[in-house]
Amino acid sequence: MKKTPLHGELAVPGDKSISHRSIMLGALAKGTTRVENFLQGADCLSTIDCFRAMGISIENHADQNQVLIHGRGLHGLTAPGSVLDCGNSGTTTRLISGILAAQPFASELTGDASIRKRPMGRIITPLTAMGADISSINGNGCAPLRIRGQRLTGIHYQSPVASAQVKSSVLLAGLYADGTTTVTEPYLSRNHTERMLEGFGAKMTCDGTSASLTPPKELFAQEFAVPGDISSAAYFITAAALIPGSELLIRNVGVNPTRDGILRVYRDMGADISLLNERTVSGEPVADLLIRGSLLHGTAIGGSVIPALIDELPIIAVATCFAEGETVISDATELKVKESNRIAVMTEGLSAMGADVTETEDGMIIRGGRPLKAAVIDSCLDHRIAMSFTIAGLLCGEMPDIRGGDCVRISYPSFYKDLQKIVSGNGMSDKIYFPTCF
Ligand code: S3P
Repeated sequence: MKKTPLHGELAVPGDKSISHRSIMLGALAKGTTRVENFLQGADCLSTIDCFRAMGISIENHADQNQVLIHGRGLHGLTAPGSVLDCGNSGTTTRLISGILAAQPFASELTGDASIRKRPMGRIITPLTAMGADISSINGNGCAPLRIRGQRLTGIHYQSPVASAQVKSSVLLAGLYADGTTTVTEPYLSRNHTERMLEGFGAKMTCDGTSASLTPPKELFAQEFAVPGDISSAAYFITAAALIPGSELLIRNVGVNPTRDGILRVYRDMGADISLLNERTVSGEPVADLLIRGSLLHGTAIGGSVIPALIDELPIIAVATCFAEGETVISDATELKVKESNRIAVMTEGLSAMGADVTETEDGMIIRGGRPLKAAVIDSCLDHRIAMSFTIAGLLCGEMPDIRGGDCVRISYPSFYKDLQKIVSGNGMSDKIYFPTCF
């Protein structure tokens, strides 16, 4: 089937990881931090709710994506009156735990059914080594968690996983520790916490895969602009890169080298992606992306690039089904402990659509080039699964019946609206399934 090229331009919403951190550091800084282009995704709203429950006044001007956080300093949090609800957000749960470990009060954290299945042992272990009193209430290593604040000591933690959530949890606990806190990871994960801690006035030393924090006396309020989320841009980058004749401009995308793995891999596969107007905004590299459609070929994806594209692997898996030849994704076991088991769910869904995909111990093998067709897909309430299969539908010209598609509100509430904008005028609107809630 001849695909209709995509033309136009858009700006995706603010980065999820950076939006979370802006609330956390804004709450712990003295004075009012103003955040522009804040992501109004459900996960980031969970972070706002948790800090409001700990006495921080936060004004969310959602119509302008602007948030004002009236920070009360490092020691300004107050005991929450009830259990803190992190919703679907692993970042909220793990990062807040690091902060709570050092507060002069006890607290409990929980979340939705998915969060209550995700591994928290990875933060319980290092925080306990720092002197924290943190436990899994049901004894299964998952939330709900009970934390009784303690005096902490800095450690050098050799993390067995390349995880920014683990690294950030330990570094945030380190804000309160006696002495320096260092985290070394097997590969470098996203370094937004390190960059932002520096921006708020802390002293960070970063060397290779190690990050060290010297506890500051205080953090200082900032004016902050969140770059567009490359993980949200990924869906439109993929659609445009794979349809020959397309030319799409995505403005204001964060291109931090710890997050740009998708650009590197797509270029390896033959994609035509240019970075325009490269600049630094609030300590983060940002660019406008110009994507021109072409024919892509398979590749090998593994090793140190994995943390730099971990959230994009579902959509990259879709892309490789439309590329010529074989793609091997390896070293990606972390995908099994995301909002869903993304290796199993992608393999099942893509196979149902007719793709040639084999699940492996640590990834997938995809032989591209087979025609795909619509199928019933269970999103497992995982936002990245819902968006990936929507793009699979766009690329094969037949929209799958995606169950629970409104879960995109977790990271990209305007996803279907933006998609509609891009496809309208290309004669494809009638083929796109838009959940009624949008
Ligand atoms: C995130 C880190 C990643 C990523 C998640 C957000 C963060 O998780 O998958 O969506 O904001 O630190 P891990 O660090 O656990 O891999």
